[in-house]
Amino acid sequence: MEKELQNTVQSVHDYWNSHTLGFQYVTDHSIEPGTPEFFAHIRPWMNPYKFPWIMERIDKESKLLKGKHLLEIGCGMGYDSLEFLKRGVRVTATDLTPNAVAMTLRHFEVEGVQAEAVHTANALDLPFEDETFDAVWSNGVLHATGDTERAIQEARRVLKPGGRAIISHFYRKPSWMWLLHRYGRENIEYKEEDPPVNTFYTDAEVLAMFHGYEIVAVEREHHRLLPVRRDGLKAALYKYGLRPVYNLLPEGLAKKYAYKVSVTAVKI
Ligand SMILES: C[S@@+](CC[C@H](N)C(=O)[O-])C[C@H]1O[C@@H](n2cnc3c(N)ncnc32)[C@H](O)[C@@H]1O
Repeated sequence: MEKELQNTVQSVHDYWNSHTLGFQYVTDHSIEPGTPEFFAHIRPWMNPYKFPWIMERIDKESKLLKGKHLLEIGCGMGYDSLEFLKRGVRVTATDLTPNAVAMTLRHFEVEGVQAEAVHTANALDLPFEDETFDAVWSNGVLHATGDTERAIQEARRVLKPGGRAIISHFYRKPSWMWLLHRYGRENIEYKEEDPPVNTFYTDAEVLAMFHGYEIVAVEREHHRLLPVRRDGLKAALYKYGLRPVYNLLPEGLAKKYAYKVSVTAVKI
């Protein structure tokens, strides 16, 4: 891997290893991380519970993948993989960062589920043989790696022919989030910086990266803007400008500027 990309991966690693997705949503700091109470406390804020379309996608895909082997790339605290495991899918769960892997292992232990494997792996250089998996699932990860196309093609490499890549989601442009992103890396949802990389693409740019796949579904994901916990200029712009205006837009128009697009594709 070239030096510049290695440096990007290192900064992505350093950010996520100290900001494992989930800790940002803790409001009761007396709860011990890694306990059943901890995972229950943040669950409503986590995928796949926060956005119903993710759970619907897991339900649908699990029916096709029962007894088959799915790789999750960028598992965070393992909530998505957990739901696949509960539905009888064999899962290898991976993340770039050791802290996410440790939380996922603990989470599976607490829930009493058994994965095939849980370990660190880089989406840009997966430690698996060609044609290993029946499916690859990745949620909120590939557009934040520094080389989205390479990640999509690595997923293809480890898929068996006919295997499914279910990628929720890419960041779209033009979209309300893209507009907001231009006001700096300050996150508006919680009081932390944004990750070092979040690349925005047009829908056509996303689809062009799926060469060697047949596209099965392209879903634009839309929700009304949520309240925020931050202060400062960007949060104020969001609270008093963008949110009230966007939330008044008719559904069709609002969806046009949705910030996520998800793709399901089959390896050919
Ligand atoms: C926004 S979080 C999403 C976590 C989880 N998928 C979820 O929905 O809760 C992004 C995750 O991707 C991981 N990640 C970032 N770059 C990665 C890479 N190159 N390879 C594997 N995982 C990566 C991060 O460590 C982090 O856990």
